[in-house]
Amino acid sequence: MPGRFPAAWLDELYARADIVQIVSAYVPLKKNGSRYWGLCPFHHEKTPSFSVNAEQNLYYCFGCKAGGNVVQFVQEMERLTYPEAVEYLARQMHIPVPALQEDPDYERRRTQRERLLAANRAAAKWYHAQLWLPENQRLLDYLHGRGLDDGTIRKFGLGAAPDSWDALTTELENQGYTQEELRLAGLTVVKPESRFDMFRNRAIFPIIDAQGQVLGFGGRAMGDAQPKYLNTSDTPVFNKRKGVYAANLLKKQRNLKRIILVEGYMDVVALIQHGVNGVVATLGTALTNEQARLLKRYAPEIWVSYDGDSAGQHAIVRALEIFEQEDIRARVLFFPDNLDPDEFIRQRGLDAFQQLRPLRAAEYLLQRAKEDLDLSDDEGRMEYARRSAQILRKVKEPIELDHYLKNLTVDTGISREILVQQMGITMPEPAQQRPSLRPVRRNQAENAHSMEEKTLISILASGLAPENAIRAEDFDTPLIRQLAEKLLGGISPAAILSQCENDQDRQEISDLFALDIQINAENAASMAEQCLNTVRVHRLQKQIDEMSANLNNLDAENKKEELQQLMALTTELNRIKRLVH
Ligand code: CTP
Ligand code: MN
Repeated sequence: MPGRFPAAWLDELYARADIVQIVSAYVPLKKNGSRYWGLCPFHHEKTPSFSVNAEQNLYYCFGCKAGGNVVQFVQEMERLTYPEAVEYLARQMHIPVPALQEDPDYERRRTQRERLLAANRAAAKWYHAQLWLPENQRLLDYLHGRGLDDGTIRKFGLGAAPDSWDALTTELENQGYTQEELRLAGLTVVKPESRFDMFRNRAIFPIIDAQGQVLGFGGRAMGDAQPKYLNTSDTPVFNKRKGVYAANLLKKQRNLKRIILVEGYMDVVALIQHGVNGVVATLGTALTNEQARLLKRYAPEIWVSYDGDSAGQHAIVRALEIFEQEDIRARVLFFPDNLDPDEFIRQRGLDAFQQLRPLRAAEYLLQRAKEDLDLSDDEGRMEYARRSAQILRKVKEPIELDHYLKNLTVDTGISREILVQQMGITMPEPAQQRPSLRPVRRNQAENAHSMEEKTLISILASGLAPENAIRAEDFDTPLIRQLAEKLLGGISPAAILSQCENDQDRQEISDLFALDIQINAENAASMAEQCLNTVRVHRLQKQIDEMSANLNNLDAENKKEELQQLMALTTELNRIKRLVH
């Protein structure tokens, strides 16, 4: 990505792009102190926690921790790739875009992506047209038989893969796509002796992203043929873990109060046909953090509506954990009588749907926690209290917490004080509730950096650090140390962020750069010195502690030497301590 535009030209673009002006086109901003503030465009909020730092050319939301530089802002708002956003900005500022640097590989990938997307689009069109042909009547009948009307079929671009070995492949080859392109797009299976269509005799659900690009397909078998659903496997343009089904419709529905997350394509289509909006499904895999973050942009709350069987229940718990990690409010919506959403809405209608009440995440977890316990028994009640305390630690709202505590005192016979006390105790979580790949929560990572490290990095980022005063070795945390190396190497905060392709790192780094301390030419030097002294005090103290703990393992000779060194270190420690007030 970076490297495609000449570096000097990019520097010029960054220097001339006024982030305040650009952001203002989307979000009204007000100046307060050294920053500009507004309502965050990336999450729903009533009071501004979205800030723009004009000097550093960065934005940061203290609420949802979205952050980045001016190009990344445009990328997010316009849903563009990095080079697209750069060109978009350049055009807005009337800066001519230079001829592309020699990067044949980039060009090749870009053209390939475009070719595959075009092939997918052509396939979707063709599948859709097939649906209306007499020879494919069965497939249309199937969709009608499942209660879908023609309006819905068109809205979702549903289609028919005819019962033929290679009708689509032949058609797209005639349109000029190569066999290799069709294979890469997942439309054609290529074997040494033959090639055939991936989807045959199936109802087709095109998977379309927020920009309207066809990324892949899901195909529903007729009758009991197996597998019931066949999905495009991952391709250069399709990653199941990143997108959701019906993302294209989400974008059109502004100001959704909640999103409903269901399991099946049919569930999405049926609910939407009956007038429920904001419904999406994952693509035949478990929910990922990336999908959660994608959904977060569209609504403040997500209702998980999976099957009530045990696999479904497990998936719900996992999804709730992911939403918790991503700081998204979640509820659980059950459909009664083991109906899936599609069956429910068809049998009972929209009114009945609107009567359904979703459970709050903690309410659902509490219910589950007691399912296998006998509350008429002391042991059962104690175990329920322990499990509940774990669950309640995550409830943020005092009123909601109070409500649960009241019920719990009744159910367990344990007093509120003791329950609250238990909530403060860290217990190992039950194994099945702990995901093996749990990412570090952002606010935990944040706490891991000391205030001194954060301040020092802000001073470096401000460009006001006295020369040679701060060195990379002064930082203990690897991420901050790397940042320091880059800043010391003369790379600007905005440039560092533009090189950062990992969302999580980017948020963390933006977070560090957004630290609200007033640094100016007068105070930078003394602030740096104070922090450095504190860092030294911590390090010395740690070294002294370790040495003292080890003293008894040494023989007499070594012990004497070690003691002398300890004395010297302690003297040094006290000297620096006097400097830190
Ligand atoms: N799925 C899949 N592969 C399968 C079965 C299911 O990828 N072999 C995914 C599909 O995304 C499907 C979802 O899981 O939409 C839900 O599947 P399931 O609950 O089995 O089916 P329903 O949605 O109820 O499908 P239908 O109503 O068409 O029977
Ligand atoms: Mn179903």
